[in-house]
Amino acid sequence: MLFEKQAMIRHESGVHARVAAMIVQKSMDIYQKYKCRMHLRTKNSGRFEIQGLMPIVALKIVRGETVWVSAEGDKAEQAVEIMVVFLEGDFTVHTPNEMREVDQLLHENAFTAEQIFSSMANGLIVTNQHDIITVCNPAAARIIGIHESDAIGKKVEDVVPNTRLNIVNKTGEGEIASRQMMGKAMTITNRTPIVIDGEVRGAIAVFEDISALEKVKWEFYEVKELQERLQLILESVQDGICVVSKTGEVIYVNPSYLRIVNRESKQVLGTNVYEVAPQGTRCTVLKTGKSEINSFSKKRDGTMVVANVNPIMVDGEISGVVSVVKNITEVQNLLEKLSTMSAKAEYLEQELLRTKKTNKAFERYIGSSGRILDLLAMATKAATSIATVLIRGESGTGKELVAEGIHYASSRAKGPFIRVNCGAIPSALLESELFGHEKGAFTGAVKQKLGKFELANHGTIFLDEIGEMDKNMQVKLLRALQQKEFDRVGGETTVKVDVRIIAATNRALEEMVRQETFRDDLYYRLNVIPLFLPPLRERVEDIPLLTEHFIKKLSEKAGKQVKGITSEALGVFMAYKWPGNVRELENIIERVITLMDADYISIEHLPSYITGEIVMKEVKSFECGAVLPWEEYEKQIISNALKRCGSFNAASKLLKLTHKTVATKAKKYGLV
Ligand SMILES: Nc1ncnc2c1ncn2[C@@H]1O[C@H](COP(=O)(O)OP(=O)(O)OP(=O)(O)O)[C@@H](O)[C@H]1O
Ligand SMILES: [Mg+2]
Repeated sequence: MLFEKQAMIRHESGVHARVAAMIVQKSMDIYQKYKCRMHLRTKNSGRFEIQGLMPIVALKIVRGETVWVSAEGDKAEQAVEIMVVFLEGDFTVHTPNEMREVDQLLHENAFTAEQIFSSMANGLIVTNQHDIITVCNPAAARIIGIHESDAIGKKVEDVVPNTRLNIVNKTGEGEIASRQMMGKAMTITNRTPIVIDGEVRGAIAVFEDISALEKVKWEFYEVKELQERLQLILESVQDGICVVSKTGEVIYVNPSYLRIVNRESKQVLGTNVYEVAPQGTRCTVLKTGKSEINSFSKKRDGTMVVANVNPIMVDGEISGVVSVVKNITEVQNLLEKLSTMSAKAEYLEQELLRTKKTNKAFERYIGSSGRILDLLAMATKAATSIATVLIRGESGTGKELVAEGIHYASSRAKGPFIRVNCGAIPSALLESELFGHEKGAFTGAVKQKLGKFELANHGTIFLDEIGEMDKNMQVKLLRALQQKEFDRVGGETTVKVDVRIIAATNRALEEMVRQETFRDDLYYRLNVIPLFLPPLRERVEDIPLLTEHFIKKLSEKAGKQVKGITSEALGVFMAYKWPGNVRELENIIERVITLMDADYISIEHLPSYITGEIVMKEVKSFECGAVLPWEEYEKQIISNALKRCGSFNAASKLLKLTHKTVATKAKKYGLV
């Protein structure tokens, strides 16, 4: 049975903490005696059991307010009566025992409040009306970076820099959600005044360390910025980029992609590659998870594209594909253009080289035939490098002249040009000739001698007749060429030189390599730039020029006034095979000039083996073995001589017959 009765609070300051503690204390006493639990309610609150003082304090019951006391049980009425009397009393403490009990209760309840503050994650600072800190919880101390005990009892402005609690105290106006640095932490603070009976009695600051939040915010900003930057890059690259989701849906394309495929974004975005291009590379990669590089395809409008398609893997699983597409129609066009251009450029370069005046250093090398112009162009080019040159050509074709030309056309022209005839020096001496020797290196080495390599330092060494070098020496030469250094014979110190090498031979080196008489490694080392000098018989058109050159040069040398050569004699020169090439031509002209006494070289001055060879050769053109009537031969010989010489006079000289005989026979055979 519930019994309830109202009571009016008459205590001057209402139900404050001590009063509440006394009420709790009374309720406990009553329970002891009557075994019924006391309940309380006000006009604003529901009914609750009187146990702790905080809920009672929280009701803020003031003087004159009515409360309802209730209890259940047999003795409820008595119990309620006792409590009502107590509530309407003046709450004076009568005995020290009562006082202790109340204090105990207050203490226990105050302890609970402190526990709450200590457990708060938020910082809490409370000041009184004099701005003295009365509460500073551990969270506050930690955030500010101080010790709690250093704060309590101090002026708030001495403990918390930039505090505004004193201002709140003064103005009575709260400040909500203000951000501020406290120690090293970024905090967000609520400051509220403590207003009691319309008067500001202090202020409370509750604040939270939001540094972690702040960091997350920055990270978020960074991610956003990165995303924007990436977006910008993707939008501005020339390559088309298409991103497809795990399910095949096109989720991103950049403007270049749309341009390449000639579509608008709404025609592409949201389509599914499994539907629009089931055989395509994107589908393959979605299925296999393996990148496809350089996959070519032709679009409907004829554009050629090449795509690199890569899977997007997240935690080891395919979460989509990204395809990077290039329009190679342009590239292909450019490639074609490029190849025509480079072919053209190459041709023009060749032409330029041919027409370009060959270096003056080659002036002594006479010739204007196509093959010679090509050769000199090559030689001029070779002169600009320091690569080894291997000059090939029959005896007397001018290998040494060309070697000299290369040296003087090169940047080493001011350095020495040293010639070594590898064929003329006995192989026993060649090593010391090339590399030098120390005094006493061998019998006869009475003093130190510098080798040709050392002499040629900063210049060119010309290894003539390289094909004649024996294999022993080839090894030593190869070592010197590879290491650009060598030892003098009988010497210990290694000599380093800077020498450009030109070698020459009239031997078929390849054949010698095959027969193992010439080392292949040496051959490859020498044969960097091969130059082939054509034999004179293959550039007959140069014979007049050469003849004129030699007549001038050699008649001066002989102190004679030879003016030239007759066309018949020149004809003989042009028909002759010149096994000794230019050297032979030079020698014959020199001999003729020395012996003759005329203004012009004519057929009769020429040695008979030249003239004879021509006639005989033409006679040999009769079918071998067939024997013809004498007159047939005679007719053929006269006819050949006339064709070659162009006049009875010259023909008669060539045939060593009289003018009259030749004329008569020509008439007889109907050759006029
Ligand atoms: N194109 C040329 N113009 C002028 N003179 C030349 C020409 N070719 C060769 N000679 C002359 O012919 C002679 C032989 O030339 P060189 O010694 O250079 O020939 P080579 O090829 O080295 O012959 P070998 O293999 O016999 O040594 C030299 O007197 C040289 O001046
Ligand atoms: Mg030579």
